[in-house]
Amino acid sequence: MGYGIDEIQRIRKILSEKLDPGRYEHTLGVSFTCAALAMAYGEDIDKAEMAGLLHDCAKRFPESVLIEKCKKNGVYLTDSELASPAVIHAKYGRYMALKKYGITDEDVLNAISYHTTGRAHMSELEKIVYIADYIEPRRFKAENLPEIRKLAFKDLNECMLRILEDTVKYLKGKHSNIASDTLEAYEYFKDLKSKDQEKR
Ligand SMILES: [Fe+2]
Ligand SMILES: [Fe+2]
Repeated sequence: MGYGIDEIQRIRKILSEKLDPGRYEHTLGVSFTCAALAMAYGEDIDKAEMAGLLHDCAKRFPESVLIEKCKKNGVYLTDSELASPAVIHAKYGRYMALKKYGITDEDVLNAISYHTTGRAHMSELEKIVYIADYIEPRRFKAENLPEIRKLAFKDLNECMLRILEDTVKYLKGKHSNIASDTLEAYEYFKDLKSKDQEKR
């Protein structure tokens, strides 16, 4: 049982009214890229499209408001998350997807929750949303995009490692705090790769 077109269109309509035009365009780009990746890897297309659609549903609130909303609604934030406020929209996005948009599928909710940081042992859907957020057609800022876009359709784990590598390097360069989930994800995908190489 997937999400039907009625459900997708209902949520698209709300988001088109709530998000600013640039964010909505990004949202559609991520949603369709998620669907394409799900096709390439034989994952559930409806779930991928829905997770992509809702991944940034909480991004319209300023950080201070998001922190307040999390407190008020019992959304627990770790010290590491509070130290990298850019990740908080993902945690509150999960809450909104559940409470406001009626999404109960754990995998979809986790994909929203971890779309900014990643984490160790990500599901295929979590990887798809994380990667789609990075490569969707309107993105242009990240380095190495053409290469990363190709890799996305070849090997999800390799692609995750590549993006995490660039992200960690970028955040270190800016002396920004790096969320512990991101560092754990980076170690996890590095490990996967070395284990894979040993097998060969
Ligand atoms: Fe986001
Ligand atoms: Fe996004």
